[in-house]
Amino acid sequence: MKLLEEKILQDGRAINEDILRVDTFINHQVDPVLMGKCAREFASYFKGKGVTKIVTVESSGISPALLTALEMGVPLVILKKQPSKVLNDNLYQTMIASFTKGTNYELTLSRDVISENDHVVIIDDFLANGETVTGAVRLLRMAHATVAGVGILIEKAFQPGREKLEDAGFDVYSLARIGSMSKDQITFIR
Ligand code: G4P
Repeated sequence: MKLLEEKILQDGRAINEDILRVDTFINHQVDPVLMGKCAREFASYFKGKGVTKIVTVESSGISPALLTALEMGVPLVILKKQPSKVLNDNLYQTMIASFTKGTNYELTLSRDVISENDHVVIIDDFLANGETVTGAVRLLRMAHATVAGVGILIEKAFQPGREKLEDAGFDVYSLARIGSMSKDQITFIR
């Protein structure tokens, strides 16, 4: 999506060859107009696929995911991060290892909000190693829900996330695919 690529070039900041800061329009301050346009793009790609809910992981995926849910006229489910395992029969839980942040956390989903009748789109801000989406899929499978596809704002195509998800059979739709980056230059794959 040209608009998102232009915004990344204008306001994104590659702090090294691996990490892109997008604090002024996605992660810290949010550009609602841009997020609305990204949501429209996701909605148009996934329409007609029988989607019943949008699923995201807190926190930075929430703004594009909420606007996509609004566009598609379905609820948004936010998977929650818990610092440690809590004993609760009503929760599905799975451990996620974040390579980028060097942290492990428990991702949780309440049995009350997803069922075997749900066919969902997972929306997130970044796709790097695919661990977050893979963990979200594990939780959705515990609930016997199915996945219509994965929508990502920014894919770091030089990391293995897409390959991992496609190998597992998922349709991955990324609005901006970064092929390489350095402090001085960001290139996109189209
Ligand atoms: P993966 O989910 O694709 O495996 O990626 P990884 O574990 O390596 O990183 C996950 C976390 O790191 C996510 O945030 C993701 O948004 C963030 N992240 C990955 N690459 C970048 C990057 O280049 N720039 C920025 N700004 N963030 C990146 P999270 O832990 O889910 O936290 P939150 O920001 O959504 O609260």
